[in-house]
Amino acid sequence: MAKKLRIGALASGGGTNLQAIIDRCQEGSIDAEIALVISNNPDAGALERARKAGIHCCCIDHRQFPQREDFDRAVVAQLREAGVELVVLAGFMRLISQVFLEAFPGRIMNIHPALLPAFPGLHVQRKALEYGARFSGCTVHFVDGGCDTGPIIIQAVVPVLDDDTEESLSARILQQEHRIYPRAIQLFAEGRLRIEGRRVLVEGPQPPASAALCNPPTE
Ligand code: GRF
Repeated sequence: MAKKLRIGALASGGGTNLQAIIDRCQEGSIDAEIALVISNNPDAGALERARKAGIHCCCIDHRQFPQREDFDRAVVAQLREAGVELVVLAGFMRLISQVFLEAFPGRIMNIHPALLPAFPGLHVQRKALEYGARFSGCTVHFVDGGCDTGPIIIQAVVPVLDDDTEESLSARILQQEHRIYPRAIQLFAEGRLRIEGRRVLVEGPQPPASAALCNPPTE
């Protein structure tokens, strides 16, 4: 059997994306195993989920490090020790320094709950709603030195409905996050992602992309 890709997951919060990845690894639809989960938050639900799944996990509290780079060095050391080949940020609420980027070049992914490059940063479901966008969605991208700026791997689009609240829109987006993050990881595990400048090209056969969407619908 081929060697499985070793993933290191970083999460700060509840960890539903982490859970989706755990589930897909367990059922075999991702050819990868989560070697380590790290949280910067001792109370993160993500740590509990890792423990339940029997995955090695630890907390590295960023407040104990005077500089961002020192925190990143500690995280990188743990990831290296666990033989991690791909780092997935799953609701990890810290910016990544050069120290981290240089340790895993082209090997760090993030998920963002908006259609980048629209609405980078925080509270983006609320911002999409307030702006009056008719569609929002989520994006998995490789991480670079900016905030939510790296090359885009996969996106899913959801409509924004007239009666949406921040909560209802967030929930609709989150459902899609749980679909596209495992897919991005599997494409990486299969060695099918090639970064060319800002673009990520997907090698090998794939079904045609869906047709254009309109909201409100045209008929
Ligand atoms: C997700 O919406 C993710 O896109 C954002 O933070 C949220 C984390 O959710 N970066 P969870 O911890 O995976 O449930």
